[in-house]
Amino acid sequence: MHEFKYRGNELYCEGVGISGIAASVGTPFYLYSYKTLLDHYNKLRDAFRPVKPLICFSVKSNSNLAVLRALVKNGAGLDIVSGGELYRARRAGADPKKVVYAGVGKRRDEIEDAVRAGILLFNVESKEELEEIQRIAASLRKRVNVALRINPDVAPHTHAYVATGKGETKFGLDFETVYGIFASHKRYPNLNIRGVHIHIGSQILDAAPFEKAIKKVLGFVKNRRISVDYFNIGGGLGIIYSMEHPQTARSFAKRVLPLLKRSGLKIILEPGRFISGNSGVLVTKVLYNKTTPRKKFVIVDTGMSDLIRPSLYEAYHNIVPVRIDRDAQRHPEKVDVVGPICESGDFLAKDRPLPPVNKGDLLAVMGAGAYGFTMSSNYNSRPRAAEVMVIKGKFYVVRESENYGDLVRGEKVPKELK
Ligand code: LLP
Repeated sequence: MHEFKYRGNELYCEGVGISGIAASVGTPFYLYSYKTLLDHYNKLRDAFRPVKPLICFSVKSNSNLAVLRALVKNGAGLDIVSGGELYRARRAGADPKKVVYAGVGKRRDEIEDAVRAGILLFNVESKEELEEIQRIAASLRKRVNVALRINPDVAPHTHAYVATGKGETKFGLDFETVYGIFASHKRYPNLNIRGVHIHIGSQILDAAPFEKAIKKVLGFVKNRRISVDYFNIGGGLGIIYSMEHPQTARSFAKRVLPLLKRSGLKIILEPGRFISGNSGVLVTKVLYNKTTPRKKFVIVDTGMSDLIRPSLYEAYHNIVPVRIDRDAQRHPEKVDVVGPICESGDFLAKDRPLPPVNKGDLLAVMGAGAYGFTMSSNYNSRPRAAEVMVIKGKFYVVRESENYGDLVRGEKVPKELK
């Protein structure tokens, strides 16, 4: 469920008309609903209440400071994967004791910053990384809490690019290596190896692969008599973009809670998309209609530089008019909704039945709150879009759109060329 709904013929976000926001902010822009963010966070928290989990929102899915602040203020922790995300976490006022840090390629300076910040846990992904953290902890004279990310080798049935829990991916450590590390923990005198972590993939619709991975890890912990306090079960819960029937927070909890409760471990979750995905839309304006002998195109003022998911994963995003024309609704036509970028891969939808639209009409690309803005780029020297959030009936620009000056910031032409 989300708070982007029609009132009469117009699409609203939490009771604020989207065309009014567009008139004030200009298109394209990302629009987030505060209430939807919190509703989704609360759904997970409530479903897992029996184990009182720490819910660390995955910053990579939407890292806007206002989004992070909204969640942090309501009790969330954060899952980070870089020094930049740590910086954002701190700017959003996150409690470092609720921050967990994953990623296969943490740099020395990033590790140092996180050690100094006193984060809850590093989710360690290789033996060499563990050794690096040990060296850094020793030189800073600190004891550092780490969890080992296990690659449980389960197939999560999702797009290959976002499946992370299979043995052949770069993520995590195999069970034997993990066992070896626990057995030789004395080699890491400055580290407390306090947890195990998994994250098997993203946009997973069914609880079965989670259950399988959790069982594998808990079986391993028990059989090998491994002593830890934390079990981080990652993120990856799928959402509805089109006709999907993903597990709900409740049905997911029902399947995995008995296992988690029995383990007696402190549970951490790292949802990104589940919280942010349907909390955001991308609002765009129609620039032109174009009909060729083969196809009809609707050309809009946003594209793969703002939302790359359709181009990269052939992801489906529903596209709806901000103002409904009842007559037009009756005559949908199959069109490609495309952007201005000079690539054939620059599309938001292909062969999509849409009511006829005119130059200047506004469209909303739904389900764009996760991996939308965070994966955007300046390709074709297009300034990045603004981000706007509706909170309790008012809208706030939470990131200005970029300007041309931003595009060349930091660039220098050497004297030689002058
Ligand atoms: N934890 C870790 C360690 C992760 O790598 C990720 C996402 C998450 C949590 C959050 O996963 P979520 O709950 O959002 O599924 N760009 C892709 C998704 C990449 C996911 C990367 N890792 C997309 O647009 O579909």
